[in-house]
Amino acid sequence: MRLLVTSALPYANGDIHLGHLAGCYLPADIYVRYQRLKKRNVIHICGTDEHGVPVTISAEKENKTPQEIVDHYYESIKKSFVDFGIYFDNFSRTTLPLHHRLAQNFFLKIYNKGYIYEKEVRQFFCPGCRRFLPDRYITGKCPKCGADNARGDQCEACGHWLEPFELIEPRCLICGETPIPKQTKHWYFKLSQFQKKLSDWIEQKKDWKGTVLTFIKGWLKEGLADRPITRDMSWGVPVPLDGVQGKVLYVWFDAPIGYISSTMEWAEKKGEPDLWKEYWLDKDTKLIHFIGKDNIVFHTLIWPAMLMAYGDYILPAEIPANQFLTLEGRKLSTSKNYAIWLPEYLREFSPDSLRYALTRNAPESRDADFTWRDFQVWHNNELADILGNFINRTLTFIKKYYNSSVPTASTFSDYDNRIIGMLHKAPQIIGEKIEHFEFKSALQEVMKIAQEANRYFDHEEPWITRRTSPLICERTMYVCMKIVTSLAVLSEPFLPFTSERIKKMINFIPQDWDEIGSPDVAKTIHHTGILFQKIDDEVIEVQVNKLKKPKLNIEDFQKLALKTAKILKAGLVPGTDGLIKCQVEVGKEQKQIVAGIGKHYRPEDLIGKIVIIVDNLKPTKIKGVLSEGMLLAAVSKDDIVLLTTDRPIDSGETVK
Ligand code: MF3
Ligand code: ZN
Repeated sequence: MRLLVTSALPYANGDIHLGHLAGCYLPADIYVRYQRLKKRNVIHICGTDEHGVPVTISAEKENKTPQEIVDHYYESIKKSFVDFGIYFDNFSRTTLPLHHRLAQNFFLKIYNKGYIYEKEVRQFFCPGCRRFLPDRYITGKCPKCGADNARGDQCEACGHWLEPFELIEPRCLICGETPIPKQTKHWYFKLSQFQKKLSDWIEQKKDWKGTVLTFIKGWLKEGLADRPITRDMSWGVPVPLDGVQGKVLYVWFDAPIGYISSTMEWAEKKGEPDLWKEYWLDKDTKLIHFIGKDNIVFHTLIWPAMLMAYGDYILPAEIPANQFLTLEGRKLSTSKNYAIWLPEYLREFSPDSLRYALTRNAPESRDADFTWRDFQVWHNNELADILGNFINRTLTFIKKYYNSSVPTASTFSDYDNRIIGMLHKAPQIIGEKIEHFEFKSALQEVMKIAQEANRYFDHEEPWITRRTSPLICERTMYVCMKIVTSLAVLSEPFLPFTSERIKKMINFIPQDWDEIGSPDVAKTIHHTGILFQKIDDEVIEVQVNKLKKPKLNIEDFQKLALKTAKILKAGLVPGTDGLIKCQVEVGKEQKQIVAGIGKHYRPEDLIGKIVIIVDNLKPTKIKGVLSEGMLLAAVSKDDIVLLTTDRPIDSGETVK
């Protein structure tokens, strides 16, 4: 038997965040690490998804070419996976020629088999940009909730899925013009023909997750419709038909083919170019797709239908999709920059603490919420106080009283035997859970051992028996070392960096999952050390505050018109002691601004000063007095200091 494990190809338009990790990469990595320890034939395949509108939109936003965007994020994503301990046998990219060729051949083969047809359709065309607009390039009012800025495919405010033609007052996202409907031609995949075949196939998947099955059954019940698989764009895999120009394959058509092309690249790099066939063409291979919730329909219905249409390739055996992760009670959002980004996380914390928190609270069967407070509590009270503490107290004890040489034992008490029995059973119990994709519960079992271990240590009181009955103390420490050795291996899928450190400390590298609990035990302590330093409240507070401040895009910032202004007149607003009313000159204009600076400035001292103002605030009344802008000032606990310029400059100049 062979295992071909894939993780969803992340779009190369942004960094990896917590939601991605919890959704598929972390569970996939745990699974694969475990399978390796079981000495099974397994490969983990991934790569970046480099086509599609998400990439071109990012490129336009950042004023770069799509190629520049994907080159940058390919490297950045690849590196943060390595740093987080997510191991792939191959991490490819869908812009490689190998992938383009394969995706085109795939299209042609099912085209020639009659599964693809051409159809004239009406689509929005932007007269300003002179091109057809993909759904996501159109915005307008949501027909359902009325919110502004709904996208052509979905309204983020109410979650409603929609068609671009339903939008009220549609606008082009790039140039703002009103798009007009125009005829174009697209190629459709006959998904409807696979209704029966897919239903029968899904019928056999009784042990798939309930959340996944419910979702699929909903789609099947509605009836599968044919789907357009081409787009009017230049960024993507060109449609491989004679005389066709300006059309590319829809990103969701080419991306999953990336699983195959990445495996081919892997085989090529290994110098065995045909090896990929063992994985994709042999019925003895189990294909497992790890994905997040939003990818379910593509992986469970459309992609399998594509594979059925093509023939030859195996179908997915398992699709363990996770639900969503929210962050401090709110939905993660790349566009709003509300997320914890992996590269940023890794600059301040260790990978295993996050791997632990995300697994302990995995969105396996329902959505889960990540909070920094939980992260801290779990790190401090569980990783440090339970796991780290047990290992540290055992190793330091042996170092101190046995000169780092692990004692041996031949007779055992009932309690010792209970512990040893627990260690014997653990690999199977934990292994079964991992094989059923129950990572959260598997991790709990590992931690239970560490908990039991501390209880055992406390009960045995080696610090007393060391003097009163040395033989008992020796066998206690021998059993403790057995636990440490087991934990070194059992924790590996979840906490690979910690596992590595423990193995170094005990100079012992047990590598086979099934050998854990065998009589073998580390013989010496190489060194000791604290595995988990406690995380302070202040450190966590900084992170929580970061999330409270929404991050701005450049465009957001550019909405502010900041200007230099000269104060011409100033006076206290009558009946107040803190408000000053200023007449300011902004270039050729004059306006009135009310500011709460009366406790820190005398009106007469303000006259003639060049200050910085926000020039485009909607006028408002403060204590009944009109204010048409805002003075900028630095504010400390007990002072307010106006911003001015470093050198004299005219009023009305732009500040940026
Ligand atoms: N890029 C997609 C996403 O991030 C996932 C693509 S998975 C694949 O949602 F199967 F298409 F590769
Ligand atoms: Zn436009």
